Amino acid sequence: SRMPSLAACYNLMDFEAVARQVMKKTAWAYYSSGADDEITMRENHAAFHKIWFRPRILVDVEHIDMSTTMLGTKCSIPFYVTATALGKLGHPEGEVVLTKAAHQHNVVQMIPTLASCSFDEIVDAKQGDQVQWLQLYVNKDREITRKIVEHAEKRGCKGLFITVDAPQLGRREKDMRSKFSDPGSNVQGTGDDIDRSQGAARAISSFIDPALSWKDIPWFKSITRMPVVLKGVQCVEDVLRAVEAGCDGVVLSNHGGRQLDTSRSGIEVLAEVMPALRERGWEKRIEVFVDGGVRRATDIIKALCLGAKGVGIGRPFLFAMSAYGLEGVDRAMQLLKDEMEMNMRLIGAASVEELNPSLVDTRGLMGG
Ligand code: FNR
Repeated sequence: SRMPSLAACYNLMDFEAVARQVMKKTAWAYYSSGADDEITMRENHAAFHKIWFRPRILVDVEHIDMSTTMLGTKCSIPFYVTATALGKLGHPEGEVVLTKAAHQHNVVQMIPTLASCSFDEIVDAKQGDQVQWLQLYVNKDREITRKIVEHAEKRGCKGLFITVDAPQLGRREKDMRSKFSDPGSNVQGTGDDIDRSQGAARAISSFIDPALSWKDIPWFKSITRMPVVLKGVQCVEDVLRAVEAGCDGVVLSNHGGRQLDTSRSGIEVLAEVMPALRERGWEKRIEVFVDGGVRRATDIIKALCLGAKGVGIGRPFLFAMSAYGLEGVDRAMQLLKDEMEMNMRLIGAASVEELNPSLVDTRGLMGG
């Protein structure tokens, strides 16, 4: 089949269609799969459609400033490249492709524990004052984890994102059926007793500690000066507990629908979280991020209106990279920036600070 040209990709969904045609079946299965019936994976994007805009008119929107800060880092637009494992399944250069694109667009990249490239390769690919965060899967052997965290801080990482939604990896049946046999990975601390018959995800994740608990959080804070963020929080009670535990941030996320199926979308959880934080006057004590199903700038804007500091984007950049390499990711990011500028103008908000709850109608969400 003929490969569509990059110029024919007009939005983030278009990259997925091309990637599906050109990627190896096993790689496609790993990237595209969600847990079980993939209900949460589909809901992640669909949930944004339950929110409607209430745009304001006659606001001076000649100049649009979409820049913001996340964990103290200035960035050009309120999204970051979230951590996704096994970048070399999609492109021979792996995660460094994302590093280069993130640099071109001044966006933050979260480095996955289970990257295909080594951690140092990804940090070495960084340019200038580009900012990276580390996503951490916590090893049963805490000394391995301590070394990873200390090394990341020494190499300049500006945030520690501890994944808390994966005490056991979800069952991604598409991935399991495709029988992962091509690791292409360079993963530390995984041991070599890996069982490839269970799909890529399970093959590489046996070291993750299911005993990780709130009791461990003070330890993380004691071994690093990086901001500590919990990735994969799914209800308001746990956000409040994260504030009390002294966490600097949370990512409201269900791991792209790859873990607990029929858990709620991050944007749905956000609508329950922010009023509770504001009620306690805690909204400045913690930065709230959302990921899952963000495909349009309107999705980003909705999350910001509801109080998120920024959003993470996963699969679209993997698909753009798999289909077109660096040029693809570059275009995907540019498309988002163009959409963002236009939609902020149409909503009547000239800057990120002007995005607020009165600009959205959330009555369609479960919490109303
Ligand atoms: C992920 N995600 C993920 N999260 C994490 O904490 N550690 C990891 O190793 C991975 N690996 C991973 C691989 C792949 C292929 C995907 C698609 C996702 C979850 C990721 O960080 C994020 O939560 C979701 O990808 C966000 O949803 P979207 O943008 O992919 O819809």
